[in-house]
Amino acid sequence: MSSGASSLVVAFSRVGRSAPWRPVRRRGHRLGSVAGSFPMLARADLRCATAADVAAVADLLAAAGLPTVGVEQLVRAPNVLVVATDGRAVLGAVGLEAHGAQRLLRSLVVAPRARSVGIGRSLVRRALEVAGGREVILLTETAPGFFEALGFDTVERAAVVGPVTTSGEWTSLCPDTAVVMRRAATAT
Ligand SMILES: CC(C)(COP(=O)(O)OP(=O)(O)OC[C@H]1O[C@@H](n2cnc3c(N)ncnc32)[C@H](O)[C@@H]1OP(=O)(O)O)[C@@H](O)C(=O)NCCC(=O)NCCS
Repeated sequence: MSSGASSLVVAFSRVGRSAPWRPVRRRGHRLGSVAGSFPMLARADLRCATAADVAAVADLLAAAGLPTVGVEQLVRAPNVLVVATDGRAVLGAVGLEAHGAQRLLRSLVVAPRARSVGIGRSLVRRALEVAGGREVILLTETAPGFFEALGFDTVERAAVVGPVTTSGEWTSLCPDTAVVMRRAATAT
């Protein structure tokens, strides 16, 4: 994945620095013209995380009750950590752990104040782009419906084979009750 940032086609606003972000519902406006109407309008940029982002991502994960173990490894190739930012603060993140030809999608989180404006979906779509045609596996206790809408299928744990089953998330970090989901490998 290129390290260059790219912008989400998502516009959101808030009325004050401590207020939650709200999606801009107006249709047919270019971002610039909407921005003129909403002084606090911001855009979320997606980019590859660096080691400098790890603490902020870990804080978001901890606040959401998700494991932080191994997050620092996600910025090391061939792993990838993608972050969404407003230019200053990290608003969300998703990680892809490489296990042979398989990829484990993990550590998806969006700050509570920035939820429901499309950042989570955009992070997952970007992670899937980065994964290319490889098989992508995830474990979730909280959001199977969210991932189903993004093309993942629920599978039996025993149906997954390969090196991803030796990952920390698989063996210890996620409970046995977690739902296992897969996007099958596709021809590239
Ligand atoms: C799950 C999460 C990443 C979604 O991020 P987000 O930026 O709010 O999501 P988006 O704005 O892109 O998408 C919102 C849509 O997803 C749906 N959605 C959000 N969380 C969901 C969940 N847990 N289960 C099912 N659907 C969910 C919303 O209902 C909404 O659907 P709609 O557009 O049809 O109304 C975010 O809620 C979060 O960080 N949760 C806590 C951490 C977590 O559970 N991570 C997943 C661990 S595997």
